[in-house]
Amino acid sequence: MKWGLGLIGTHQGANGFIEATIMDLKERIDSKKLPRHIAMIMDGNGRWAKQHNKPRVFGHRNGVKAVREVTEAAAELGIEYLTLYAFSTENWSRPKREVDALMRLLVDTLNKEVATLNKNKIKLRAIGNLELLPTKTHRALLEGMDATKDNDRMTLILALNYSGKWDIKQATQQLIQKAISGEITSDEINEEMVANHLSTASLPDPELMIRTSGEHRLSNYLLWQLAYAELYFTPVFWPDFRKNHLYQAIVDFQSRERRFGKISEQIA
Ligand code: IPE
Ligand code: IPE
Ligand code: MG
Repeated sequence: MKWGLGLIGTHQGANGFIEATIMDLKERIDSKKLPRHIAMIMDGNGRWAKQHNKPRVFGHRNGVKAVREVTEAAAELGIEYLTLYAFSTENWSRPKREVDALMRLLVDTLNKEVATLNKNKIKLRAIGNLELLPTKTHRALLEGMDATKDNDRMTLILALNYSGKWDIKQATQQLIQKAISGEITSDEINEEMVANHLSTASLPDPELMIRTSGEHRLSNYLLWQLAYAELYFTPVFWPDFRKNHLYQAIVDFQSRERRFGKISEQIA
């Protein structure tokens, strides 16, 4: 199989496609050209569970290990921000049993992982319409964020009850309020001001967006913020996603020419 990246030492991976060994891939990452911010859509838990003849929630539970691995790998590499899509506005339409199980899993995971986040100096943040989360989930989230607020190695951002359209809508509402109160005029509104009212206000836009499970869509994720992100899709189901898959995505990202509308010759 032709690999394009010229990798050596490949082997047949558990997911049925050629993977390089972890060290091969990690060594190929140029630490000077890392994305500052990686956004991920953790998808495929349900199909993974089905493959194992188990209920969907079994897939969600097994997805927690992937979250741990990816968070650790990103922090080790020196990524500054990692945003994970954990629950979309649209996910409320799932069967109540699944939604309840996901919300409970969130509480359990948050409570369990705070110590590890602190040990690894990772700050937890969240974006989304958080007030509409069940009280227990909201509380666990606020506690987790408070307990990790002084950490400065990496920021882990959970997108919860999040959607890109909601984010742009709430930014619009804030701007209109400011215009009504006379704080700003409509002429003053520029792209930077819009960005500063999104839930990601203080964060750089993600340079790389990774989606697992073979789906090729954004599903209402960070619509404004991903305007110029490099998109990377892998068929791997989220519960199978490991450090080497992240390395693979970053190696691929670093092989791309980001032109931002210019022509190749203009890129130094
Ligand atoms: C992603 O996996 C987890 C959430 C959306 C919460 P899915 O549950 O969407 O899994 P599939 O896509 O049905 O396989
Ligand atoms: C997107 O996955 C949301 C999360 C991963 C949290 P979905 O599985 O909900 O997306 P669609 O519905 O297949 O587009
Ligand atoms: Mg899905």
